[in-house]
Amino acid sequence: MAVDSKKMCSKNVLSSWPLILLLLSFHGTAARLNRFEWDSVIRLPTEPVDADSDEGGTRWAVLVAGSSGYGNYRHQADVCHAYQLLVKGGVKEENIVVFMYDDIAQNELNPRPGVIINHPQGPDVYAGVPKDYTGDSVTAENLYAVILGDKSKVKGGSGKVINSKAEDRIFIYYSDHGGPGVLGMPNMPYLYAMDFINVLKKKHASRGYKKMVIYVEACESGSIFEGIMPNNLNIYVTTASNAQENSWGTYCPGLDPAPPPEFITCLGDLYSVAWMEDSETHNLKRETVKEQYKSVKERTSNSNNYALGSHVMQYGDTNITDEKLYLYHGFNPATVNFPPHNGRLETKMEVVNQRDAELFFMWQLYKRLDHEAEKKRDILEKIAETVKHRNHLDGSVELVGVLLFGPEKGSSVLQSVRAPGLPLVDDWECLKSRVRVFETHCGSLTQYGMKHMRSFANICNNDISETSFEEACLKACGGYDVGLLHPSNGGYSA
Ligand SMILES: *[C@@H]1O[C@H](CO)[C@@H](O)[C@H](O)[C@H]1NC(C)=O
Repeated sequence: MAVDSKKMCSKNVLSSWPLILLLLSFHGTAARLNRFEWDSVIRLPTEPVDADSDEGGTRWAVLVAGSSGYGNYRHQADVCHAYQLLVKGGVKEENIVVFMYDDIAQNELNPRPGVIINHPQGPDVYAGVPKDYTGDSVTAENLYAVILGDKSKVKGGSGKVINSKAEDRIFIYYSDHGGPGVLGMPNMPYLYAMDFINVLKKKHASRGYKKMVIYVEACESGSIFEGIMPNNLNIYVTTASNAQENSWGTYCPGLDPAPPPEFITCLGDLYSVAWMEDSETHNLKRETVKEQYKSVKERTSNSNNYALGSHVMQYGDTNITDEKLYLYHGFNPATVNFPPHNGRLETKMEVVNQRDAELFFMWQLYKRLDHEAEKKRDILEKIAETVKHRNHLDGSVELVGVLLFGPEKGSSVLQSVRAPGLPLVDDWECLKSRVRVFETHCGSLTQYGMKHMRSFANICNNDISETSFEEACLKACGGYDVGLLHPSNGGYSA
């Protein structure tokens, strides 16, 4: 029932396009004729449009899809969608830097070659997206250099950087897999929370912006900021999930709302589509950052069902939440008569856990290959390999815990969650070195294995030396053939 009304709602939006365009051209003329009069038309007495009267400065954005592969279609779809939203809001292409692997639109599995969608009935979001950092150049190092505006440190890509000044605003949006303390990247190593925070501190110290807003979708994304994000950097952050829970893919095949039947992969992610669909259906000169936070939090909770949703969190300088969203997302004149808030999409969304989305995708592929025995066998083999490596990782980490802390305490020490406000780990370099040791003996963590980051963090928090840890890894994994999943192939994740 709720789903039906949602579908009707989006159809209505589409069918009213000619009207919106008409309004747009009319209003555009009015604005040119008399800007003052025009402003007074849309300004409500109780709700000043420019409470900040802060039009000075340039809006910048960095958009990052941290994954690759058709099974991760949704992350690049999210990022392309975000690009279109900002451009419609008047943010200039030269001020938006896009990181995406760019292997989706032309993927042989894409039923609509050259097109990417982020909603079952949605338009193409791929056309026009600049190829700033694609393929091998989608790296954490390049992301840091781009944010810092340091062209000399960028390797490959378009060389576009955030060349921002003290009066400018910056919006950063990231979508991908994650784990405690890390965000994924399609090229190793992953982004480590403390490295990212240090980049933000450096940008702040160089007076490179006035205010910054960061949105992050990933599993355990709260752990990137929990206990380490200062509130005096003029930066406000929201994350899809708290420090210890999954985030969710949505618009997935066979689930409701479902993508068109020819799609075998999820089209979006729950928190990401929540903020973008919110921004598209409201007047962002009136909606505040706080109002969006609240409605995205509600929608991402999936009606307070945390088995199918997550806790959207906020970090940093929450004073920024009183600002209007257009200062970051721009303002699309077509939305001028849209409500400032409310009018939320109340739809219940069926979802797939980010960590299971890859298997879910392979299973969809397998089911559809009924007439191609050979391909079907290949994909089954891949599914089997994936499941086997997952079990190997889970078992090895558990065994390492038993070897270090004994059978009674092993798993409780590894899985213990620190109190809110405390960082995942005190020594981030220790965390990286333990990950490298584990991968050397037990194989690459992979997207799935990021979930074990908390175990490595707790090993550091319990002052286990590198030598003791390495001995435990050798005992747990010695002699196990990880095959192609040795880090010498794809690189270490730390
Ligand atoms: C937020 O605003 C309050 C009230 O104006 C102020 O006291 C506080 O210092 C501000 N916080 C930050 C982090 O700027």
